[in-house]
Formats: sequence, structure tokens, C-alpha cells
Amino acid sequence: MKEKIGILGSGIVGQALCKGFIEKGYEVKIGSRTPEKLNEFINSLNSDKVSSGNYSETADYGDIIFFCVKGTEIENAINLADKENFSNKITVDVTNPLLFNEEGKAPTLSVSYPDSNGKKIQDLLKESKVVKAFNTIPAHYMCSPYLEEGAPTFFICGNDPESKKVIEDIAEKFGWQDIIDLGDIEQSYLLESLAMIYIIYGFNNNYWNHAFKLLRK
Ligand SMILES: NC(=O)c1ccc[n+]([C@@H]2O[C@H](COP(=O)([O-])OP(=O)(O)OC[C@H]3O[C@@H](n4cnc5c(N)ncnc54)[C@H](OP(=O)(O)O)[C@@H]3O)[C@@H](O)[C@H]2O)c1
Repeated sequence: MKEKIGILGSGIVGQALCKGFIEKGYEVKIGSRTPEKLNEFINSLNSDKVSSGNYSETADYGDIIFFCVKGTEIENAINLADKENFSNKITVDVTNPLLFNEEGKAPTLSVSYPDSNGKKIQDLLKESKVVKAFNTIPAHYMCSPYLEEGAPTFFICGNDPESKKVIEDIAEKFGWQDIIDLGDIEQSYLLESLAMIYIIYGFNNNYWNHAFKLLRK
């Protein structure tokens, strides 16, 4: 039986993952502080497997919880979702801790080495198995990793090997082939810094159809 997916955050990322999981036949609840604003989105999916809820209902629902909230609001989101709801589950941290200082300018990281959102979330949710993944990829490629110059690389880290395997299997269902495990959750700072490279390139070139590929001989 497929795991039930709880998605915390209903921005571009939350909605892209929600659509991707529904297309793969999963049952999904997507969470917002104001879930009623998602009615039109939910209706557009034309599926009886999708619903919306507040953060606490969504975290309670998910066997796997995707954490897709604004990267500077992780503590607030966890408090709204209730820590207990994450216990003994996989939490996938998709966030980047971005500070938008000036309008129209590229953001900066609000936390950096040796700290990171991934590590912070694992510290806050000691009973949960936190996996950092999907944060180095633009939302529109997360569930459909097909670019003209080839398939990009999926970077992942986290402390629990079994949980990483579960998320790698999901990534493969979405079409990811080249998956690189960078180690434990402390390595999240690398994934968040890597994301900054595609973000700064995107801002400087006003171009968002790119992703990373590790090339080998
Ligand atoms: N956009 C991308 O292509 C991309 C790619 C990789 C990673 N990421 C990362 O993924 C995360 C989501 O990105 P996004 O672009 O979808 O949208 P976003 O604007 O960064 O985040 C939107 C979500 O954050 C929630 N949020 C905002 N303030 C909050 C608060 N004070 N307390 C609790 N929740 C709050 C909102 O909840 P409500 O629904 O309640 O308003 C909304 O659902 C970010 O951390 C981003 O850096 C983005």
C-alpha cells in the first residue's frame, strides 16, 4: 500500500508536489494556514484522493510529511503542525532558508555552515527521520525531471538510511535516475548552498529552466 502524503505549505512547491503525487496514485493532503484558499486548486486536480487541511491536520494525516514552507518560518510551521504529528515518520525538508533583502535582487541564506534548515528541523523534531531532498530543483522539475540537455542529479541527505531509500524510491517513480546521497543531515548546508547557485543564476539571467547534473567520464 502506498504511504499517505502530507504536504505542509501550499506555494508553488507544495502544489507541484501535490499534483505529482496525485498523478502517481498517492493519497495526499496539502496544508495551509488558510486551507479554504486551496479549494480551486483541489478542484482542478479532479481526484477523490486529494484534500486540504490546516498544518496540524495535514501533519497528522501524512505517513510521510513534505515540509515546503517559507524557509525562514520553519519553527512557526512546526509549532502550528504540532511536533507530536511528526514522531516516527519521515519528514522531507524541501526548504531553503532564503532572506529576500531587496526587491528584485537575489536572496541570501539566513543560515549557513555548519547550520542549515535540514539540521535545525532534525534538532526540533528529534523523533522524526528528517531527509533533505528536492530543494536543489525548481518546483516545475521536481516530479518531472526532464530537461533538453539531459536528466539532472537528485541530491539527498539524512541520518536514517531506510528513510532515504523510501524517498529515493519515490524520486525514481517521478523519473529521477541519478541520485546522490551526500551523507547525514549535517550535510544539508551543502544542499542549501547548492540551491543558492541555481537561484543566483536564475535571478541574474531571469531564467528558471535549469538544474544540476554531476558529469562522469
Ligand atoms: N520555488 C521553487 O522552485 C523552490 C525550489 C526548491 C525549494 N524551494 C523551497 O521550498 C519552500 C517553499 O517554496 P515556495 O516557492 O512554494 O513558496 P514560499 O513562498 O517560500 O512558501 C509558501 C508557503 O510557506 C507558508 N508560510 C509562509 N509564512 C508562514 C508562516 N509565518 N508560518 C507558517 N507557514 C508559512 C505559506 O503558508 P500558507 O499557505 O499558510 O500561506 C505557504 O504555503 C521554500 O523554503 C523554498 O525556498 C522552492
